Amino acid sequence: MRIIKADDYYSMSRMAANIISAQIIMKPKCVIGLATGSTPLGTYAQLIEWYKKGDLDFSEVTTINLDEYKGLSPENDQSYRYFMNKNLFDHINIKKENTYVPNGLEPDSKKACDEYNEIIRKSGGVDLQLLGLGNNGHIGFNEPDEAFEKETHCVKLSESTVNANSRFFENIDDVPKEAYTMGIKSIMQAKKIVIVVNGKNKAEIVKKAFFGPVTPNVPASVLQLHNDVTLVGDAEALELID
Ligand code: F6R
Repeated sequence: MRIIKADDYYSMSRMAANIISAQIIMKPKCVIGLATGSTPLGTYAQLIEWYKKGDLDFSEVTTINLDEYKGLSPENDQSYRYFMNKNLFDHINIKKENTYVPNGLEPDSKKACDEYNEIIRKSGGVDLQLLGLGNNGHIGFNEPDEAFEKETHCVKLSESTVNANSRFFENIDDVPKEAYTMGIKSIMQAKKIVIVVNGKNKAEIVKKAFFGPVTPNVPASVLQLHNDVTLVGDAEALELID
């Protein structure tokens, strides 16, 4: 694993955006796996800036997002589809039909997951997967568990994740309790993985995930087994590792 230590959030975001743009420049018709959450916001802002300067072209790029809340429509401002449109897709020249997010409105979990697995399969594989890291070690919505889930599945969100995500909702009861997420096997099949982490509150889990035992109790620990992972963190998130 490669570790890139950035001074602060801004430079962490630029480093991650640099890796993504290198991928797009080297292979314009590439498949990028994307994450939501607070951490990648700066990365997306940087990519938009470079696109606006004329340095990046997304016209042939396909994106596949990790996850979506079950029950939320694309118009709901807490859905991950809404987040992606607002924070990236609406500002670049990507073709919306080439951007994929699990279908939160599909009530039949098996159908939603099968369809998403088919999308991933048909895409020919993810060239570069961008990840954030949950406080409990989750990636996508793969929560700590007894075993690694392989493909897209429906998860019951853990209490800690519901609590962490409640900051975006008016009321904690409004936070959906279930989500569709890409599985660990699908994430691990990406050719390259870039994981972004910032802030003191991620320092413990960064140490546990990347320097502790590989266990489904810390889902991100499985990334230690991938042969092309880059951890891009700010000084605070990386303060417990050297
Ligand atoms: C969201 C996702 C999650 C987040 C994680 C960290 O698509 O994949 O695993 O990456 O919850 O979230 P932030 O960046 O808000 O700390």
